[in-house]
Amino acid sequence: MKRKGIILAGGTGSRLWPITMGVSKQLLPVYDKPMIYFPLSTLMLGGIREIAIITTPDDQPQFRRLLGDGSQWGLSFEWIIQPSPDGLAQAYVLAEDFLAGAPSAMVLGDNIFFGHGLPEMLATADARDQGGSVFGYHVADPERYGVVAFDAQGRVSAIVEKPQHPPSSFAVTGLYYLDGRAPALARGIKPSPRGELEIVDLLEVYRAEGSLQVERMGRGFAWLDTGTHASLLDAGNFVRTLEERQGLQVGSPDEIAFRQGWIDAAALETRARLFGKTAYGRYLGAVAHE
Ligand code: DAU
Repeated sequence: MKRKGIILAGGTGSRLWPITMGVSKQLLPVYDKPMIYFPLSTLMLGGIREIAIITTPDDQPQFRRLLGDGSQWGLSFEWIIQPSPDGLAQAYVLAEDFLAGAPSAMVLGDNIFFGHGLPEMLATADARDQGGSVFGYHVADPERYGVVAFDAQGRVSAIVEKPQHPPSSFAVTGLYYLDGRAPALARGIKPSPRGELEIVDLLEVYRAEGSLQVERMGRGFAWLDTGTHASLLDAGNFVRTLEERQGLQVGSPDEIAFRQGWIDAAALETRARLFGKTAYGRYLGAVAHE
């Protein structure tokens, strides 16, 4: 069965208040694009075209206005509401009908990945249709994330959420490739003391049965944080630096759709015209004429 995508873009954004009191975190700008363009681009680079977007009830209209039905990119979107932020693993329960038994790639709507070889890494995870794959990334501050613990043989012995004393420097990024059992397994886990269906508890089910693969995302990748005001600004500067230096876009669903062959040059030109005389519009026009 073809893998389907999920973008989890709910939550309260409370760590970025007051900015996110009026607008969803995943709609904030990261330099020249709305944040959700980046995780969407990641799924697209992984070859995924059927995508459920999970939002709060209040924010869904704005996301729909921004993203439409996906047909402009040769995608199809399903819109799902998360009534309250009851945990990352709840996404699988909410998306159960949409997935209909298919394996999935879930990305958190605030996670930005960049790096040479990303499509190949995603293709490797996609090819594994039993079990799950997550991506470990070396960070300076693992206590802020889910962290991988390794045993003496280098095998994954646990994944712990925000440990006070991190067992390693490898954070688990917000991109989860799981098989078709994920919704049923998510329904089987109990809410944590903080009242959430925890992603680490779902991953533990896979780890315990020996079917969880932890792929190391090496130092050639950037996994950018948007969790604080400073890191959000840094992420924007990173994107700006790359785009100005290279003259190439980062996180453009329009360009990716075209390069994947999901839309033709005429459709890309229509998009270019929509963006008019912005740098982005000129860029898309040039790509369409390559
Ligand atoms: O970014 C990677 C990290 O994401 C992982 O290393 C952690 O294991 C994972 O728990 C998560 O940590 P966060 O501290 O970022 O989790 P947070 O509760 O902030 O939620 C992450 C995003 O998901 C955030 O943009 C809001 C959204 N969200 C969160 C919850 C709990 C939802 O849409 N619904 C929810 O119920």
